[in-house]
Amino acid sequence: MRDFYPEDTASLNAVFNAWHSSARRFGFAEYSSCVVESLDLLKRKAGEDIVDQLYCFVDKSGRELALRPEMTPSLARMVAARQKSLMLPVKWYTIAQCFRYERMTRGRKREHYQWNLDVIGEESVLAEIEVIGAAVDALAGLGLDERHYMVRYSSRALLAAALERLGIAEEHHAATFLALDKCGKRTEDETRDALAEAGMDRVDQVFKLLDVSGLEEAVDAAGKECHAAAQISLFAELAEAAGLGDVLCFDISVVRGLAYYTGIVFEAFDTGEGLRAIFGGGRYDNLLSDVGGKPMTGVGLGFGDVVLSEILKTTLPVKERAPDLAVSYMEDGQRALAMSLAAAMRRQGKDVDLALRCERAKSFFARASKCGFGEAVYIGPDDAAAGTVRIKDLATRSEREIALSEIIRRPVSSSED
Ligand code: HAM
Repeated sequence: MRDFYPEDTASLNAVFNAWHSSARRFGFAEYSSCVVESLDLLKRKAGEDIVDQLYCFVDKSGRELALRPEMTPSLARMVAARQKSLMLPVKWYTIAQCFRYERMTRGRKREHYQWNLDVIGEESVLAEIEVIGAAVDALAGLGLDERHYMVRYSSRALLAAALERLGIAEEHHAATFLALDKCGKRTEDETRDALAEAGMDRVDQVFKLLDVSGLEEAVDAAGKECHAAAQISLFAELAEAAGLGDVLCFDISVVRGLAYYTGIVFEAFDTGEGLRAIFGGGRYDNLLSDVGGKPMTGVGLGFGDVVLSEILKTTLPVKERAPDLAVSYMEDGQRALAMSLAAAMRRQGKDVDLALRCERAKSFFARASKCGFGEAVYIGPDDAAAGTVRIKDLATRSEREIALSEIIRRPVSSSED
């Protein structure tokens, strides 16, 4: 699990800020839920790999529970519980702490924060475009563009139509999707074995499908007249209109590992580091009915902080933000004045670091520069007697003198008895 020191927390907060503002800019409302979820719900609704990675336990009442590995089953449960009264489409987002017992590598941890954006109750491919658009907007807010990542997309429904045309029965589709999802992590022989194990006797034909290079060719393989072909073609056309053309590219091998996706699926990968996906998501048609709700389609994505932070380390190091002003004093006689000054400045909206004990001027200014404060005030007995202080700008080294009565509404006596 992870410890966040202040510099790590500063980077995490920069990511959270980008996520919050993009979600709001695209009209998503924030929700949240408990990190502990029913094991049964997660087992039924999480992807196969994820179920093996659950941190589960039995509580004192004998309930089987787990730390959530993803947010989507909890979201489906929450939406299903209020499905009758919710205004459609539901456009919700959250930043959820998730836990998966995974083999740890760079960009893959046992605990991560995941930004989730979901649109529920909307058939139009604009839902896909808006969630991807919001993720792209957040990446742009952090200084990342098509030089740093690409969003690869495909469609499970399109692949299913192509498999069907090859004469591969629907009962083999789920196993084929899973085997194809793992393609990049396995040798061709291993994938062939996995497909054969799943009962597939047309392994060569599946491999031929993977050679399909563009959207048009994939649409031909699935049959132009099918619904999935029409949907993905419209998606590509409208995504271009939304300004996403430069970051999107069709890739038939994108199927996603989670079992619940049924339509368009997508994953963003960095262009330089070869890390795991930055974000991934897609359309799910059966999740709501699977958790006891009315059938309703949904589209969403999960965007983790870990891979993103790895990329930001090399492109945009985020600095911790120091307080605007540091206040210190020479002797205990100026302590109350320093406290009143700090309190007044805080009331004015400044972030102030107040010295917790008196110190020498030299060590105060050395400390203030090292910590990166914007300005510094040091109060000695002469300042207290004159009723003025000098505020030093630590970047330019310039000073301005201010009457204490101007800042402190209720002046305190300059010495403590
Ligand atoms: P996922 O692909 O399993 O999808 O995870 C989404 C993102 O979470 C990944 O692309 C990655 O950034 C991050 N992530 C996942 N596991 C880890 C890990 N062990 N360490 C670091 N980062 C990780 C889902 O979870 C779906 N529920 C997303 C979704 C929402 N689909 C529809 N709505």
